[in-house]
Amino acid sequence: MKKYQHYINGEWVDSTGSETIAVVNPATEEVIGEISAANKDDIDQAVAAAKVAYESRVLVDMNPMERAKLMRSIADELRKISKDGGALLCEENGKLLAASEYEFLDAANYFDYYSGLTDKIEGQTIPVNNQVMDYTLYEPYGVSGHIVPWNFPISMLARSLACSFAAGNSTVIKPAELTPLATTSFFAQAVHNAGVPKGLINIVTGYGIEAGAALTSNLDVAQITFTGSVKTGKIILHAAAERAVPAVVELGGKSAAVILPDADIDKVVNATKVGIFSQAGQICSAMSRMIVHKSIKDEVLDKLSELAKSIKVGPGNEEGVDLTPVISEEQLQKVENYARSGLQAGATAISGGNRVDRKGYFFEPTIYADVRPDMTIAQEEIFGPFLSVLDYEDHEEAIHIANDTDYGLAAGVFTKDVDMATKTAAKLNGGQVYVNSWFTGSIATPFGGYKQSGYSREKGQQAIKSYLQLKNVGIQL
Ligand code: NAI
Ligand code: MG
Repeated sequence: MKKYQHYINGEWVDSTGSETIAVVNPATEEVIGEISAANKDDIDQAVAAAKVAYESRVLVDMNPMERAKLMRSIADELRKISKDGGALLCEENGKLLAASEYEFLDAANYFDYYSGLTDKIEGQTIPVNNQVMDYTLYEPYGVSGHIVPWNFPISMLARSLACSFAAGNSTVIKPAELTPLATTSFFAQAVHNAGVPKGLINIVTGYGIEAGAALTSNLDVAQITFTGSVKTGKIILHAAAERAVPAVVELGGKSAAVILPDADIDKVVNATKVGIFSQAGQICSAMSRMIVHKSIKDEVLDKLSELAKSIKVGPGNEEGVDLTPVISEEQLQKVENYARSGLQAGATAISGGNRVDRKGYFFEPTIYADVRPDMTIAQEEIFGPFLSVLDYEDHEEAIHIANDTDYGLAAGVFTKDVDMATKTAAKLNGGQVYVNSWFTGSIATPFGGYKQSGYSREKGQQAIKSYLQLKNVGIQL
């Protein structure tokens, strides 16, 4: 059994303790590797290394062009290993092999994108009076702590790390205990090969409740970034509040597509395929609800039922597969419970609703219609291949249903009428609104939540401000 180590201060090291965590391939239920479960001492060591690296000013004082070059070297290294790294990621996460390889390319793109900002971190001069010269400086926080989820282990890690690094921070990363292998091996190796000075980027594996909590409560961690569930996000916000440090939190969603009567139904079907069945629906901004006009409900449901029948379930490394397993037995059970609760509450199964009778954590492509807004399956994040379809008669009612959850991550509208599209987009509560499609964003577009889906924004140019603090300097002339 291969044992994967922490990457601390430029070296791969074991934990000080002996506890380990087995990592399982969700498609086969086989153990494929094990990691050290970090305790508080391991986290403290990584934070101490990051602090020394920060205070050495090796990154802070690096010429911005040099910092950019270093980031582009990381990008190059990530591209080189996308095939091998992707193969391991596919095994530990279960997602499609192509999507796994793409995560490394996506990560490379994050480093390239944010490398372009290193020399554009500009302050202002402020006219106070003619006896004072006043200016502002954006400075890094110091040690930045990142807690990463298992659904995009490499992409989401790069999303926050590239930004933090471009800003000049040292970073300690705690990957999800379900998917730590490609991160602590291939990703760390890419950072190492690129020649990143020791201590600037550290990766420590372990449980959230122990290693994650030790990171968020460490007094030397000056800024925190978290992506994951609302429940854990709130715990992390409490930890940040305890020490009055800022946190970027990107939490869950229950995102709805509103289908207007004139919608192009083929576009709705295509968006459903990527929106809720890619990555087995385990995407924070997944299209987990559809709110369809009564006049086209039957036609839409017929086509969705055909879509479900066409979806091929299987492991991520098999040719032609559309729907891969969910991450764990626990997650599978959770999805199964929602499926049962939906039927009990009176929803109609258009397709699926059961686990697939084979080894691995596979769940059928599931579409439930006649869902009412007050049902649990219309309110809670399921995080599986599970679409809840609701219907409506007038436009305001559709908007009301779409906005009537605790979440506000994404939303969508399908219509051929651009006027209705913009009016609807304006009224939907969501950090991003997709029109006639799903997941239209890119690295350059801001991403984040309204309401309990979190705050602050990742991606895009403004995200770098989350990793910088503002200093004002006044000079008496
Ligand atoms: P989680 O939010 O508990 O885990 C995410 C990360 O937080 C992991 O790295 C974990 O180790 C860490 N963590 C957990 N407890 C912590 C603590 N007390 N202090 C510091 N770090 C901690 O999510 P989990 O349990 O894996 O999944 C549960 C549900 O969360 C899913 O069913 C899904 O609904 C949602 N989720 C949403 C994600 C998103 O992208 N918005 C990603 C992952 C999960
Ligand atoms: Mg949890």
